[in-house]
Amino acid sequence: MDRYAVFGNPIGQSKSPFIHSQFALQCKQLMQYEAILAPADGFADSWRDFVASGGKGGNVTVPFKEQAYQLAEVLSARARQAGAVNTLYVNTAGQLCGDNTDGIGLVADLKRLGVSLAGCTVLLLGAGGASRGAIGPLLDAGVRQVVLANRTVSKAQTIAASFDSRLVACGLTDIPEQAYPLIINATSSGLTGSRPEIAATYLKQCQLAYDMVYGAQPTTFMQWAKQQGVPQQADGLGMLLAQAAAAFTIWRGVTPDIEPVMALLKKQLAG
Ligand code: ATR
Repeated sequence: MDRYAVFGNPIGQSKSPFIHSQFALQCKQLMQYEAILAPADGFADSWRDFVASGGKGGNVTVPFKEQAYQLAEVLSARARQAGAVNTLYVNTAGQLCGDNTDGIGLVADLKRLGVSLAGCTVLLLGAGGASRGAIGPLLDAGVRQVVLANRTVSKAQTIAASFDSRLVACGLTDIPEQAYPLIINATSSGLTGSRPEIAATYLKQCQLAYDMVYGAQPTTFMQWAKQQGVPQQADGLGMLLAQAAAAFTIWRGVTPDIEPVMALLKKQLAG
């Protein structure tokens, strides 16, 4: 049976084994998908052991996405732009290929939510790995401008240096005043129950407040946006499923339907 796995540290909380097992059932793929806890300094060895024992492909999560980028022999344009790899596989020539499906997962989820990205001005909060991976796919989807606002402005400026003038970097307190129909929280603030401290005025013309973090309850950022009158809020569960579906398609050549798996995950989260 073909073997796949997600590598991370910690890994116990990962939903990927459940998601990919559901995709496999739905698409009638004979495959097995497990979670592998790699030692903090031993990702490359874990991956090599996995391939030596018949592993076909893998997902990579925190904190190994940059190490997977270094390890891959062939990188997709998306992975190169993101500077990180979340999907690995061995091609028919035996080369280790690295791709990144996080950004296209986000774009797919935004489309599912009815957002029309062409010509849209996006406010993207945060300048970590999650944010960096989103920029290329957002621009490729026709976004007019991405305003990248980060608490530590230098990090936003460093990212902006590898993009064209459609990306504007700033701090959280000097965001250009214009309409932002879409605001994406790509900071990790939701994991600690907080939100990026931006002025409520930026939300005035916002149609969708999107948080890449997800949980049983709406995140602090989503709750705040709702209080401010933003008509639609979404968390990152759909992005998680869409990046997984894109990885599954790369490995197996078939595209699963995320909706039934999303319904199951929502039930699980609600306990
Ligand atoms: P990830 O890989 O999830 O993007 P990361 O690389 O650690 O994680 O980046 C975390 C991001 O969240 C950073 O942009 C961080 O801001 P700083 O660069 O200023 O540290 C941002 N962040 C985390 N908590 C935040 C908070 N409470 N308010 C604003 N930004 C926050």
